[in-house]
Amino acid sequence: MNIILLGPPGAGKGTQAARLQATRGMIQLSTGDMLREARASGSPIGEKVKAIMDAGELVSDAIVTALIGERLDSCAGCGAIFDGFPRTIAQAEALDLLLAERGRHLDHVIELVVDEEALVTRITGRFTCAKCGAGYHDSFRPTKVAGVCDVCGSTEFKRRPDDNEQTVRTRMEEYRAKTAPILPFYQARGLVRRVDGMASVDEVAAQIDAILDASP
Ligand code: AP5
Repeated sequence: MNIILLGPPGAGKGTQAARLQATRGMIQLSTGDMLREARASGSPIGEKVKAIMDAGELVSDAIVTALIGERLDSCAGCGAIFDGFPRTIAQAEALDLLLAERGRHLDHVIELVVDEEALVTRITGRFTCAKCGAGYHDSFRPTKVAGVCDVCGSTEFKRRPDDNEQTVRTRMEEYRAKTAPILPFYQARGLVRRVDGMASVDEVAAQIDAILDASP
């Protein structure tokens, strides 16, 4: 099964994709994570995309499509969860081609329907453990002991450079202008399933599970 999780920054795509990967043996293909890995490695692609990501703008279609193509080749036969891809009509068309070339097809486009203002608070408060990657939030999910990771005990944490309010607002604008227009592209094919992304993480998970479990 191949699915897209679609929604603005902070909608919960990464949270749900990681859960599906853990519970269903599907593979999370997050272009945001791939680009952050490229940045951290100091590769030529990483250098190229750093300023674009920090401004909250979209990286070129060619770069992200190439990244997705490489990862798809390394997970032949596994179910794919596209997280943060596609983000433009050109990327949606490129994904069709990438899947068709590999004899695969899309089963669902799951739209996380959310209130954008609430998302600014969600995003600007999040942080992760620098050692094990466990995710937290200043208000909604603080560590049990202040300054100590619940999972590995590390005292080092990090925040994404693009998680400040100004950049988040640019990311939202990019979503409205370039990504939301891909919904009609998939609606015309009857692939879009809407989920209430403002519900709790567990409730969102249950809604997504119901969609996947109802699939033939
Ligand atoms: P990317 O990393 O994809 O970021 P994003 O789309 O802005 O999404 P986020 O990771 O911020 O949010 P999310 O929806 O995954 O939410 P999460 O689960 O983390 O992209 C970053 C940048 O890379 C882009 O700006 C662009 O520059 C570039 N890029 C990436 N892909 C690209 C592409 N295809 N084309 C071009 N450029 C690309 O949740 C957020 C917070 O909310 C967490 O703290 C979480 O714990 C919490 N939370 C989640 N669900 C709930 C819930 N139901 N209730 C309460 N809290 C919740």
